[in-house]
Amino acid sequence: MKEIKPSIQNEDRFCAETAAGPSAFIVFGASGDLAHRKLLGSMFTLFAENLLSDRFYILGCGRKKFSDDDFRIKAEKSIRSSSDFLSSKRLDDFAGRIYYIDGDYDDTGLYERIASRIAELNQKHNVEGNLIFYLSVPPFLYTTIVEHLGSAGLACITGPGKEQQVKLVIEKPFGRDLRSAVDLNNCISRCFKESQIYRIDHYLGKETVQNILMLRFANAIFEPVWNRNYIDNVQITIAETAGVEHRAGYYDTSGATRDMFQNHMLQMVTLVAMEPPISFEADRVRDEKVRLLRSIRPFDITRINEFRVRGQYGPGLIDGKEVKGYMEEVGVSPDSKTETFVAAKLFIDNWRWQGVPFYLRTGKRLAAKDTEIAITFKKLPYSMFSSIGLDELPPNVLVLKIQPEEGISLSFQAKKPGPKICMSTLNMNFSYKSVFLVDLPEAYQRLLLDCMVGDQTLFTRQDDVEISWQLLTPLLEDWQQNESAPYIYPAGSESFPQADALIEKDGRQWRRLLAKSAYDIYQ
Ligand code: BG6
Repeated sequence: MKEIKPSIQNEDRFCAETAAGPSAFIVFGASGDLAHRKLLGSMFTLFAENLLSDRFYILGCGRKKFSDDDFRIKAEKSIRSSSDFLSSKRLDDFAGRIYYIDGDYDDTGLYERIASRIAELNQKHNVEGNLIFYLSVPPFLYTTIVEHLGSAGLACITGPGKEQQVKLVIEKPFGRDLRSAVDLNNCISRCFKESQIYRIDHYLGKETVQNILMLRFANAIFEPVWNRNYIDNVQITIAETAGVEHRAGYYDTSGATRDMFQNHMLQMVTLVAMEPPISFEADRVRDEKVRLLRSIRPFDITRINEFRVRGQYGPGLIDGKEVKGYMEEVGVSPDSKTETFVAAKLFIDNWRWQGVPFYLRTGKRLAAKDTEIAITFKKLPYSMFSSIGLDELPPNVLVLKIQPEEGISLSFQAKKPGPKICMSTLNMNFSYKSVFLVDLPEAYQRLLLDCMVGDQTLFTRQDDVEISWQLLTPLLEDWQQNESAPYIYPAGSESFPQADALIEKDGRQWRRLLAKSAYDIYQ
C-alpha cells in the first residue's frame, strides 16, 4: 500500500488561546499513582508553558504522612519522569507552590485543617475564587469526601452567587451500575451543582478524539456521506498489551465492561455518531451526545450472545516475553470470572444510522497497543473495469488513529502507472506528530486546563453517565445471574474464535491490530 503525506496550510487559524485564572488545586489521593503518573506532570507542563496563572498552588492531601518538603521532593521526582518539559528553574518555581496535608478522609478534623490551610495559602498566593477539589482516590471514598466537603462548607467557599468557582473533579468509574451511579450523583448533588462537577474521562482529552468533531463539522466533505447510505460499518478498537498491572483490587471487581466500555468506548461512539450540535458550547455538545446514547438500541436479553462476547487473558507471550494469565496475577481471585476483553455489536435507531452495525472491542494483553475508529464505506455497486471484478475493489476506509500514534488515514483506489489497467490501494496518512512536529499533549493537560477555565465540554454529564449504565444493565445482569465464565484467550492474541464469530457471522472481519512498527512509516 502506498502512502501520501499531507502538509499544513493556513497554520494556526482560529487558535483559541486559553489560560487559567488564579487557582487553588486540592488533590485528594496526592500520594497515589494517578497524581504522580499524570496529574503533577500535566500541571507542571501547563505551568511551564505559561498557561497557569502565577497565582496558583497545589495542596496535596493523603493518608500517608509527608512534610511539605518531603512531598515536594517526591513530586519533583515524579514530574521529572513524567513530563518532557524540563527546566530546573521553572520546576523550582512550581515545586515552591506545592503543599501537603495528611489525615484520615473520614475525620472531620481533616477538613477543618484543609479549610484553614486553604485560607492561609489563598492569602499567601493571592488566589481567590477558583478552588478545585480533585478526587484521585478509590471510588468508595467519593461519597465520604464529598459529604465532608459539604459539611465543612467547602463546596461553596466563596459565598452565594460565586459557588461556580468551586469545582469538583472526579475520576471514573462513576458508579458500577445504574443504581450506584444514581446514588453517587444524589450524594454529590446535595453539595455541588452540576455546573461545578467535572467527571473526567481521559479519552475525551486525547487530540484525535477531540478532532472527531472538527473533522466532521469543520469540513463539508464528510457529513454528506456520514450516514447509512454510504457507511457499511464502524469498528472501534481499544487494544492494550498491558495486563491488570498493580490494579487488581479495583479491576477484579470491575472488568473491561465497567473499566473501558461504559466510558471511553461509548464516548467515542457518541462523537462519531452524534448529530451536529448547534454550537460548540458545553451543554449543546453534551445534549447531542446524550440524544445519541438514547438512540442506541437496548440489548435484547433473549439474544444477548449474538451481540456481545467476553474474554479473559490466560498465560501467553507479549513482545516475546512470557506473561502470567489474569487469574495468576497478584491480587486476582484464582477463580475470577472478570472479563479482560469485551466485544459488542450495537445499532443506533435513528434516521442516520439505521442498520449500520457498530462493532466495538476492548481488551488487555492483546497483540498490540492499538486504539482506532475505522469507518468502512459501502462497496461499489458495480465495476465498469472489465478486468477488475467488484471483489477486487476494496471499500474506502477512514481510520481515526488514537494510539500508539495519533492521526487519520483514508484508503482509496487509484491506477498504477503504466499501460495496463491495474488498481492499487493508496493510503493517505496524516500523523499529528510528523505534520505538527510536536509531541501531543497529555490528555490530562487539556482536561485540567478546561476545568480551570470552566469549560465542561469534555467532561461527562450525569444524564450521559446514567444512560450508558442503563444500556449496559442487561449485560451486567446476565453475567451476574448466569455466572458464566469468560473465554480464555492466550495473552498476546490478536483475537479469539468467539470474538471473531461476533463479526464474521455478518460477513465482516475485525481489522488487524497494528504493531508499533507498522506506524514507523508515518515518522
Ligand atoms: C483507564 C483504564 O481508564 O484507561 C485502564 O482504567 C486502561 O484499565 C487505561 O489501561 C487505558 O488508557 P490509555 O490512555 O492508555 O488508552
